[in-house]
Amino acid sequence: MSLRIQSFEEYQANYKNSVENPEQFWGEIAETFFWQKKWDNVLDWNFNEPSIEWFKGGQLNITENLLDRHLPERANQVAFYWEPNDIHAEGKSITYQELHNEVCKFSNGLKELGIEKGDRVCIYMPMVLESVVAILACARVGAVHSIIFAGFSAHALADRVDDAKAKLVITADGLNRGTKKVDLKSMVDEGIKNCPSIENVIILNCIDSQPTMQEGRDIDYYQLINGQSTMFQAEKMEAEDMLFILYTSGSTGKPKGVVHTCGGYMVYTSYSFENVFQYNEGDVFWCTADIGWITGHSYIVYGPLLSGATSVIFEGIPTFPDAGRFWQVCEKYKVNQFYTAPTAIRALMSHGTDIVNEYDLSSLKVIGSVGEPINEEAWNWYYENIGKSKCPVVDTWWQTETGGIMLSGLGDLSPMNPTHAGYPLPGIQPVLLDSKGNEITENEKEGYLCMKFPWPSILRTTYGDHERCKNTYFSNYDGYYFTGDGAKRNKNGMYRIIGRVDDVINVSGHRFGTAEIECAINTNKFVIESAVVGYPHDIKGQGIYAYVVIDIENEEDYAIIQSSIIDSVSNEIGRIAKPDKIQIVTGLPKTRSGKIMRRILRKIAEGEKANFGDTSTLLDPNVVDSIVENSI
Ligand code: WT7
Repeated sequence: MSLRIQSFEEYQANYKNSVENPEQFWGEIAETFFWQKKWDNVLDWNFNEPSIEWFKGGQLNITENLLDRHLPERANQVAFYWEPNDIHAEGKSITYQELHNEVCKFSNGLKELGIEKGDRVCIYMPMVLESVVAILACARVGAVHSIIFAGFSAHALADRVDDAKAKLVITADGLNRGTKKVDLKSMVDEGIKNCPSIENVIILNCIDSQPTMQEGRDIDYYQLINGQSTMFQAEKMEAEDMLFILYTSGSTGKPKGVVHTCGGYMVYTSYSFENVFQYNEGDVFWCTADIGWITGHSYIVYGPLLSGATSVIFEGIPTFPDAGRFWQVCEKYKVNQFYTAPTAIRALMSHGTDIVNEYDLSSLKVIGSVGEPINEEAWNWYYENIGKSKCPVVDTWWQTETGGIMLSGLGDLSPMNPTHAGYPLPGIQPVLLDSKGNEITENEKEGYLCMKFPWPSILRTTYGDHERCKNTYFSNYDGYYFTGDGAKRNKNGMYRIIGRVDDVINVSGHRFGTAEIECAINTNKFVIESAVVGYPHDIKGQGIYAYVVIDIENEEDYAIIQSSIIDSVSNEIGRIAKPDKIQIVTGLPKTRSGKIMRRILRKIAEGEKANFGDTSTLLDPNVVDSIVENSI
């Protein structure tokens, strides 16, 4: 651990250096890792293709860096404490040596199944240690993992399996979530029945449900790995070989597979982890995200392990058995750095502080936030009641596509300002552009947040469709990476994120394209067409508001239709994307050319009753009055 900046002045000096001499800057950081062969070039890039190559010619395996490299000094250090959903059940922990051994055993198992370098493997699993083992085993054999959040439906799983043409799914019989058990195995069976690329399914027993195993296809997790050797020669990977695909929503219906590669992702996740959280030797770090999202990839699995950290991995939810669970876990493991989402903070805030004060949170040093803008009230509550007004809040802004944290304070080194994500990390060159693509130099003026220079963990492509990557991120403004967010900069150079400027809504820190939800709603038999917008929601940040035109012939109750629509969304995407409000309307406000005026629908969802601006291009302005009258 030698990557850590120790003062704000040092940050400023490093930042300056990273902009003036980026290749030298990142080259020196990359030197601290273990490469089987050193790179020829630190960076080759152009944002027009786009083509971005970091550490080209370098060869490595990321698992040698997060396991083997640490063994001489950390063999017996705990890598993860696992805290089960059930507060009375016994937890587990795994040391670096044990993790190494399990990963090697699993890698041997993968080889036995014929998994080769470059093959795609889908992981659809709970928050258990075996999931981390599966992820790292893929990386060790050179297979490309595509983790699918276990809250996604069978249909969503199948879409992702198909897009990646995965050979293998690694899953569990089910998972524990508060008082519920969720059946994953039947979801996989249902999902992949029409996915010809799948050859095998590995199933971990988590809930003892004794699922039916399909002969010749299904294999029990432990049956595969028991008796395997604890040694496995890590596959040699080029720095720019794919490490993983992670699907994320965009403005169009189909989720896209964001591709990250081995070398750059390794360098940046470790560097950002140590600096943002100011992780010190011996500290215990806890990120509450799910491994199915990028936060889990970068700051549960890769970043902390690369830095030789000890972390907590938690199976449950913040409100089970009660709203003190997070604080109980912090006390139990003496957590030093805690990283969660504003939606969780707001949900727990509504339970008051008595329950917080039952626990000893004195071990906390840094508390973090991620996934959506954190409102001032939640920020203050978090700072005062969880951090006891002594821990810095690091409000970390980043994206699936950025691979790691981009804008944030660095532990207690940086000044803070509630609702401001703060400063760019070294190597990150943000700009705000106006609609013509000119850089905004004034302070406090809102613009489109873009990046003008690559950093090591920027996405390289969208799987199977490079044009889409180019069109989504590199074509809006020539020569820039476009984030899709609007932001402002204050006089001290701190950034404040306003929110998405595209048709993406952020529900509890999860990202959904409105088109994706509309497609799901439109599969419903009662529905003719629909339009979905986001609206401010006290806990979730944004809620999902659906305007739906139904077939007038049908006589069903609205309540039945609404619940049927919710079922459709649950089936197509998952319950996490179900609309909070469904308004049945007779028509949508469309222009003469047939385009839905979402601006108006957004205003109505926000509670606006009049003043919709220029509506002269509407085909039938009366539609608006009727929607307003019946708005929810
Ligand atoms: C979008 C990315 C990367 C973490 C999980 C979400 C929003 C993320 C913040 C923040 C304001 C934030 C942005 C971004 N976002 N962090 N600290 N403040 N907004 O990853 O699903 O790829 O979503 O989340 O709108 O574009 P994601």
